Amino acid sequence: MNRERGLRGVNSYARELGFDPLTRLTAGDAWLDLCCGSGRALIEASGDPRARDLHITGVDLVDFFVPAVRSAGLDLIAADVVTWSPPRAYDLITCVHGLHYVGDKLGLLARIASWLTPAGRFVADLDPVQIDAPGPVTSELRRAGFEFDTARRRIALRGGRDIAFPYTYLGADDTTGPNYTGQPAVRSYYTQA
Ligand SMILES: C[S@@+](CC[C@H](N)C(=O)[O-])C[C@H]1O[C@@H](n2cnc3c(N)ncnc32)[C@H](O)[C@@H]1O
Repeated sequence: MNRERGLRGVNSYARELGFDPLTRLTAGDAWLDLCCGSGRALIEASGDPRARDLHITGVDLVDFFVPAVRSAGLDLIAADVVTWSPPRAYDLITCVHGLHYVGDKLGLLARIASWLTPAGRFVADLDPVQIDAPGPVTSELRRAGFEFDTARRRIALRGGRDIAFPYTYLGADDTTGPNYTGQPAVRSYYTQA
């Protein structure tokens, strides 16, 4: 599992997201990165002069962050994103190759949508093949307002909102093998609500 992506470069957030997160943020903004891994990208971002007035938060299940002097605006939290509740709204929410390992992916996507500011933006990697639900799930995501880039397997949303998917979460299976990244992933099962 690649938990070490930096902010820019070959193995980086800029490459996976298609943009450097710091270019999408202005003074006073808040950036939340879910499943942040070692936190390397966030630590690099927080050390950039452009991040001086930003609030940067990373959340990961594993409390194994890169040891570094942390800037005042950086918070790295060990928690399960499925149950963690944020203390504020965010201008940017990212999840770089983290949704693959979450059980209730649609439940988390709905929660994320409610954590965005009115003009906030969410971007993440998502493999719809790993969501087993009645009907085409990408259509349901688009109906809810998400954009889905099929070629890049990238999901995005602009603007916070309340979303209720017409599904009930049944459970997940972590024994279905690797997904397109080559890493073992978690398949999520839903039935019609
Ligand atoms: C492939 S790594 C990506 C890490 C980081 N985003 C990067 O690109 O370097 C996936 C990360 O998701 C985290 N993760 C998986 N399930 C999680 C959960 N339920 N809550 C929080 N983090 C989770 C793992 O601990 C791991 O660090």
